[in-house]
Amino acid sequence: MSKNILVLPGDGIGQEIVAEAVKVLACLRDDYGLDIDMDEALVGGTAYDATGTPLPQVTVDMAKEADAILLGAVGGTQWESLDISVRPERGLLGLRKELGLFANLRPALLYPQLADASTLNPEVVSGLDMMIVRELTGGIYFGEPRGVRELENGEKQGYNTLVYKESEVDRIVRVAMDIAMKRGKRVCSVDKANVLEATEMWREVAIRVGSEYPEVELSHMYVDNASMQLVRAPKQFDVMVTTNMFGDILSDCAAMLTGSIGMLPSASLNEKGQGMYEPIHGSAPDIAGQNVANPLATILSVAMMLRYSLDEPEMADRIEKAVEVTLDAGLRTADIMSDGMKQVGTEEMGDAIVGALRNQ
Ligand code: IPM
Ligand code: MG
Repeated sequence: MSKNILVLPGDGIGQEIVAEAVKVLACLRDDYGLDIDMDEALVGGTAYDATGTPLPQVTVDMAKEADAILLGAVGGTQWESLDISVRPERGLLGLRKELGLFANLRPALLYPQLADASTLNPEVVSGLDMMIVRELTGGIYFGEPRGVRELENGEKQGYNTLVYKESEVDRIVRVAMDIAMKRGKRVCSVDKANVLEATEMWREVAIRVGSEYPEVELSHMYVDNASMQLVRAPKQFDVMVTTNMFGDILSDCAAMLTGSIGMLPSASLNEKGQGMYEPIHGSAPDIAGQNVANPLATILSVAMMLRYSLDEPEMADRIEKAVEVTLDAGLRTADIMSDGMKQVGTEEMGDAIVGALRNQ
């Protein structure tokens, strides 16, 4: 039976980059017999404009039925003045929560062809291959109570709550351990156990789960030190596991080690292995509609989808190979451009990947 993919372009450059990833999927379907069908739905600011909510119920229903979801990005300056409860970001957070996508895998892999594109010295980053496992449906992003209240003296006070249950920590650490078993067998759990009780408990649970994986070397790091170590000596890391907010911050940092945030895909998985796949960058409203955005993070997200949700590892290999061939040929979007390379736009990059796929 064919697998159903729900395509959610979202906002800003989401529209352009997803269009290129869809071309790649269509090529695998038409030329290599990948048995899929694709539907499209609205999320984010575009959904708000069309329906009054950033996450229409029909989108949630289609997402729950789909075998996998491909998402572009959400957000944009024109929606920033909306009430926080209907901002585009709420569409994304709602999807994560509704589908129980608690495990966010964010690889940071440096393509040798892009060693010069990083702002760090090539010797610091060359060969970098790490995986950030970010908890995605808990922590301060979803904790209650939250809001802005008025104090007795009339001053406003904003508040959010960092909460984790043992079971939530247990399952995300387990995901990290399982991934580490297939990689370098090292997990670094990042917390702020010296200050925050919730993450002191996080560390205790991590140690407990870790003891079930005697082959995996488990270490712990405070988040401030982890951010420093990421730019000082990133190759010390194999798998990093951390809370929702720390993971949000550290994964942007890790992305930049690889030259451009435009290169990195991500997978968000639930307990059934159902997944949502998206580039880790945002909607980049400043360059939207100009055919300059890098579609490779989204195209590589399709590769992750084929591997983690559709059980088509050979198709995933095909995409990754096509990306390498295209980079070897010197094609670069503006964000990864360097001397002697050929600068291309979003569509040309997508077409080049499709061309490389056809030539395999
Ligand atoms: C991410 C993004 C989102 C997050 C935003 C858009 C809600 O920054 O996926 O990293 O904070 O999780
Ligand atoms: Mg982020």
